[in-house]
Amino acid sequence: MKLEDPHTGTALSLAEWWMPFTNNRQFKQAPRLLARAQDMHYWTVDGRQILDGAAGLWCVNAGHCRKPIVEAIQKQAAAMDYAPPFQMGHPVAFEAASAVAQIAPAGMKHVFFANSGSEAVETALKMTLAYHRARGEASRRVFIGRERGYHGVNFGGTSVGGIPGNRKVYAGLVAGVDHLRSTHDLARNAYSKGCPTHGVELADELERLIALHDASNVAAVIVEPVAGSSGVLLPPQGYLQRLREITAKHGVLLIFDEVITGFGRLGTPFAADFFGITPDLITCAKAINNAAAPMGAVICRNEIHDAIVNGAPEGTIEFLHGYTYSGHPLAAAAAVATQKLYRDENLFQRAAQIAPYFQEAMHSLRGARHVIDIRNCGLVAGIELEPRAGAAGKRAFETFLHCFEAGLLTRVTGDILALSPPLIIEKSHIDQMVEMLAAALKSVA
Ligand SMILES: Cc1ncc(COP(=O)(O)O)c(C=O)c1O
Repeated sequence: MKLEDPHTGTALSLAEWWMPFTNNRQFKQAPRLLARAQDMHYWTVDGRQILDGAAGLWCVNAGHCRKPIVEAIQKQAAAMDYAPPFQMGHPVAFEAASAVAQIAPAGMKHVFFANSGSEAVETALKMTLAYHRARGEASRRVFIGRERGYHGVNFGGTSVGGIPGNRKVYAGLVAGVDHLRSTHDLARNAYSKGCPTHGVELADELERLIALHDASNVAAVIVEPVAGSSGVLLPPQGYLQRLREITAKHGVLLIFDEVITGFGRLGTPFAADFFGITPDLITCAKAINNAAAPMGAVICRNEIHDAIVNGAPEGTIEFLHGYTYSGHPLAAAAAVATQKLYRDENLFQRAAQIAPYFQEAMHSLRGARHVIDIRNCGLVAGIELEPRAGAAGKRAFETFLHCFEAGLLTRVTGDILALSPPLIIEKSHIDQMVEMLAAALKSVA
């Protein structure tokens, strides 16, 4: 197949871009190339329309190429492309931080910018250590993650993460990390609508881990309120509340990694709001600016900011951390426009309103060939397939390919298909998703 850039006509070579989290050899033999996007759809380089059932990669919550966001970026690019964020500032980054703080939980009004979810996680881990040290508890250095947790790909995030394949080669370099058990329990919780009823007791394991390491050494627990990347794993009812109680009791910080759940995915600004829990830190990225430019952030409790900033000697840089692109003007302009669009169109409420329809539509696939579980919360759903003997992940990947051929973008992880459409989705799109999923499940061996 002769490939070219559809916009410029330039011949394309696929050899040089070493693609992330991709089977490069397979992809380059049969590439899936997207050329443009608008609202709920992508178009491939050969002009096929694809319904976006994944909001890109859990991130384009307002739908694609929305005019106010596009124009904000264009305007900012023409006015000022870049400004250094170290010992210098620019208005739009402050505006972006204010817009995020405005919807953050009460008492969490400070925002530190990074450029990705992974960087937000590293920032949160460092902020945790800096906070404990500032309060005279420098011995608190142990981090507790959870099996099947995903916290990005940098060394800290890989270590506190709990996906064996990701950890195999790289984990262990960050010492002093332990893990809670995964809450995923198909035997007791398959086909739950919303959060499953069984498993709250798994949170009590945290008492054991804190006792094992001694509370005086434990810095923080990091979990995704709803795990996305490892296959849409929902917390058992009461589980997150229990984690909050135990961490608070022992002076251990609770970090909610909301890179996927932040900005309306569950029908509320954050999962923290959905579950009625205030963590100490929230990591976010993706939908913060509708993924229109790279951006991540840590939102922290005011006490954490104050302990680090006010605790440092006058005349010093209080937190020796940051990125060249922290609060990048284009990303920040996109964030301001995105947050306004979420407000103007009530998109979080919209997600909450359409979530019951989405739930019933997804669960209508119960009984389809290969399906062993369907689970959902807000506008996110996971469909778990029986793995093929000796070929884990193959069946779901083929289903993903079938869907793409039919005109639907899904996300696949192991033998789980994940759906997380833009929050502007209409009922008719949900019906189309179900039709294409049902047809794909029928045709896959
Ligand atoms: C919960 C969570 N944390 C961190 C990340 C990493 O984000 P990024 O790929 O932007 O580095 C992701 C990515 O999906 C995520 O889902």
